[in-house]
Amino acid sequence: MKKIKISPSILSADFSQLGNEIKRLEQAGADMIHVDVMDGHFVPNLTIGPPVIKSLKKHSSLVFDVHLMISPVHKYIENFAKAGADIITIHPEATDNLASSIKKIKELKKKAGVSLNPESKIDLITNLLNEIDLVLIMSVNPGFGGQKFMPEVLEKVKALKQIKDKEGLNFDIEIDGGINFDNSKLAIDAGANILVSGTTIFKNNDGNIKKNIELLKSH
Ligand code: DX5
Ligand code: ZN
Repeated sequence: MKKIKISPSILSADFSQLGNEIKRLEQAGADMIHVDVMDGHFVPNLTIGPPVIKSLKKHSSLVFDVHLMISPVHKYIENFAKAGADIITIHPEATDNLASSIKKIKELKKKAGVSLNPESKIDLITNLLNEIDLVLIMSVNPGFGGQKFMPEVLEKVKALKQIKDKEGLNFDIEIDGGINFDNSKLAIDAGANILVSGTTIFKNNDGNIKKNIELLKSH
């Protein structure tokens, strides 16, 4: 069985207790911490930036999987790298030159992720796949937690997995948005190996995050 990783999104955590929430996630078996950064411009919502990430790093040794929904993103990459992001994921539409933004992330010795919105085609990234460490497929329109999963994006997951296998590439395939106990298996079967989840992990089963992480992995 392939190893599935869970990257809980702290967007659904208690923001007044973020340090403790991250410790709790680590104890509960999370593989990474998914941090959603929003600018009120690229997406219609605002969240947190580098200073918060820097403070949170002290509370966990897990990989910080930082999803930047900000535009223009290029000039901020270094700030997030310095704050402690381990994976820096950007959207192609948020930079003038995707190749040079990926190069910048890698020069800073971070893993480079690229995220595709539900309407964004994989053609945007096919020529760069050998430079990319992670592809994040959005299964909702980014901006808010708690939205409904869009099953049509699974076709993109399948197509990427095919390219990955055919060309012997190593990038991770992560899926983000509306993941729950009913669709996690569909996402895994399609080829995703990292599942992001906010609402399901923090709100289901009276907030029993350990149980919810285990259930997402086992489905
Ligand atoms: C949406 C974010 C997601 C979101 C996931 O813009 O990128 O990471 O917080 O939350 P749920 O699991 O509630 O859809
Ligand atoms: Zn996200």
